[in-house]
Amino acid sequence: WAVYAPYVKAINELKAARNAVILGHNYMTPEIYHGVSDFVGDSLQLAIKAAEVEADVIVQAGVHFMAETSKILSPQKTVLMPDMEAGCSLAESITADGIEEMRAKYPGAPVVSYVNTTAEVKAASDICCTSSNAAQIVAAMESDTVIMTPDQYLAQNVARDVPQKNVVFWPGSCIVHEQYTAEDINEFRKWNPETKIIAHPECPPPVIAASDFSGSTSGIIRFVSENRPKQAMLVTECSMASNISDEFPEVEFLGPCNMCPYMKKISLEKILYVLVTMDNQVEVDPAIAEKARLSVQRMIDLSR
Ligand code: 13P
Ligand code: SF4
Repeated sequence: WAVYAPYVKAINELKAARNAVILGHNYMTPEIYHGVSDFVGDSLQLAIKAAEVEADVIVQAGVHFMAETSKILSPQKTVLMPDMEAGCSLAESITADGIEEMRAKYPGAPVVSYVNTTAEVKAASDICCTSSNAAQIVAAMESDTVIMTPDQYLAQNVARDVPQKNVVFWPGSCIVHEQYTAEDINEFRKWNPETKIIAHPECPPPVIAASDFSGSTSGIIRFVSENRPKQAMLVTECSMASNISDEFPEVEFLGPCNMCPYMKKISLEKILYVLVTMDNQVEVDPAIAEKARLSVQRMIDLSR
C-alpha cells in the first residue's frame, strides 16, 4: 500500500476539488476498489448510482460501456474514462446492424440487450438487462420469443431459469468467463470437496450446472456474506476474491481465476491523469443517447 498512498491521497484531494465521484466496478484492483472508489458494485448498481449521484464529474473505474451508460443516464455530468481502450469482448461482438438482423429473423420479438453493449446497440434494443436482473426482465416480456444479445451463455442460463420463454440469442461471449469448463470445475471439486463453487452467469451452462451457485458480481458477494463458507472458489475475474477477502477473513478463497485484460487497463495513475487533465471525456450522440436511455431506464424501472 505504501506505493499507492501518494496516488490515493492526490486522487482523493482532486476528487473533492472537482466535485467528482469514482464509480468502481467489482473487478477493479483492490487499491482502486478500496482506496479511491466512492461507490463500488455490479453493472446495475453502478448504473443506478450514476443516475442518482450528485456530482459534476464521474470517473468510471470500469470499462467503456459502463462510462457510456453513466453518460446516457447523466448527460449533464462530465464522464471520464481513465483508459479509452478499456473495452469488452461482449460489447465488441455486436453492432446495431446485428440487432436489426435478429429482428428480421424473429419478427415481433422484443430485443433484450445486456448492458455490456455500445450506446448504439442499446438504442436499437427494446430494453437492457444486467446479469443480476436478466431472468426477471426476460420473464416480464409479453412475447413468447425473446431475443437476447450479445451473450450466448447468459442467454442460455436465463433460458433455463425462464422455461416459459423461447430465448434466442446472439453468439457473443466474455473472454474471461468462456474459458472455464465443467471439467475444470469437476476436477477442482474432486480435490476440494468442501469448497463452495460460485460462478458468474457469463460462464457456459455446463459450468453453472457444475457450480453451487451462480450470480452477478454483487450476487456472488451476497452469497458469500450469507453463507460464509469455509472455502470458496469464485469462477470469475481475479479481483473479486481479492476485493472481498478482507471483509470475510473466515472464508478462504481458493482455485484459479481469469483476468479481464480490459478491466486491468484501469490504474491509479490513469485515474489521477484524467482528474488532472480532464482528458478522455465520454460523449454519446444526443439522439442515440435519448433512445439508449429508454432501454436502460426501462430496465431500471423493472428491476426496482
Ligand atoms: P456484473 O458486475 O453486472 O455481474 O457484470 C460483470 C461483468 O462482466 C462486467 O463486465
Ligand atoms: Fe467484458 Fe468479460 Fe471483461 Fe466483463 S469480464 S468487461 S464481460 S470481457
